[in-house]
Amino acid sequence: MVAARYPPPWFSVAPMMECTNNYYRTLARFLSKHAWLYTEMIAAETIVFQKGDLDKFLGFGPEQHPIALQIGGNDLDNLAKATQLANSYGYDEINLNCGCPSSRVAGKGCFGVRLMLDPKFVANAMSVIAANTNVPVSVKCRIGVDDHDSYNELCDFIYKVSSQSPTKHFIIHSRKALLNGITPKENRSIPPLKYEYYYALVRDFPDLQFTLNGGINTISEVIAARKEGAHGVMLGRAAYNNPWNVLAHVDSAIYGAPSSNITRRQVVEKYQIYGDSVLRYYDPKPNPREVLKPFLGFFHSAPGNAIWKRKADAAFLKFTTMKSFFDETLVAIPDYVLDTPLTETPLCYSDTFANSKSRLPPPYSIREEVLYA
Ligand SMILES: Cc1cc2nc3c(=O)[nH]c(=O)nc-3n(C[C@H](O)[C@H](O)[C@H](O)COP(=O)(O)O)c2cc1C
Repeated sequence: MVAARYPPPWFSVAPMMECTNNYYRTLARFLSKHAWLYTEMIAAETIVFQKGDLDKFLGFGPEQHPIALQIGGNDLDNLAKATQLANSYGYDEINLNCGCPSSRVAGKGCFGVRLMLDPKFVANAMSVIAANTNVPVSVKCRIGVDDHDSYNELCDFIYKVSSQSPTKHFIIHSRKALLNGITPKENRSIPPLKYEYYYALVRDFPDLQFTLNGGINTISEVIAARKEGAHGVMLGRAAYNNPWNVLAHVDSAIYGAPSSNITRRQVVEKYQIYGDSVLRYYDPKPNPREVLKPFLGFFHSAPGNAIWKRKADAAFLKFTTMKSFFDETLVAIPDYVLDTPLTETPLCYSDTFANSKSRLPPPYSIREEVLYA
């Protein structure tokens, strides 16, 4: 049993259902060797009851390390069994989802963000997960649920889970979740971001590690957040919708690695070869659109992107090989966009996080009933 990794990943890509699958993670690895990649959430029950078909849910290529598996669930036995079954795949971390507000998960399923209302259970779940794996464990959560949204309540959750289980790393999606009345998508934009809660956790729990998540769109913002003391930063939608401008800069701008000088054309060629081999050899053959989907944001904000998108929309409906898709659409992208090597990251000044630090809530003081609960 390993309590936590120190330090947590400086940069990670968030777990995203139907997005951070093997196809996306392969593309992500063509762009960054250092970014930590989280799988989409897989319910413990899916792992336990699909024993015969585990590769489909848990398999990944060796180049995808470092990679964390996110699981979800509310049954201790199944969480334990799922963790055991995942062991042979060699994930680098196991993360428990305590942030998903979808009615399928937090409503009928009664897990995801609903678990934040039961920190004792989360502590038990994390103890069980940690007891069944040798890799670090972590929790991904929101800053509150419905009207349980005070900074003190968040601290009570963090205190109970960290003191009653080996969890030392929390990923904080810095907005609360509303359990009723809005969709999961709206739950990622309507509740306001409160980065000040995140920085207050860093101040009040110096022995724990916190990753900041929510609403961060650029490498400049990642650097600014770290400069203000964030241990690690996790990006979701920006890393998916704009992979070149985000992920391709991670290794040099965040990890200080020499620039890879890759070009977009090289990445297209690698993905074409990968995608066509998947379409040729995987059994059952995947839907070509699923394989291509992670690529659709690749030319985000580049010259030619609008025309490329129109061509891609048309080709998307009927293409059968990656090669035919790229042959048909790449004519929209100027050669210099395809062939210019990655340049230095253009950095912009961001004061978002400095401003949040000027609004920190008062320090946490543990109430007696929490201390002895
Ligand atoms: C399509 C989609 C699917 C998501 N699925 C998951 C999930 O499986 N597990 C999870 O913890 N969070 C999930 N999230 C939330 C993200 O991990 C992240 O916390 C959220 O998008 C905020 O980060 P961002 O503003 O950088 O996108 C999902 C988000 C999106 C957009």
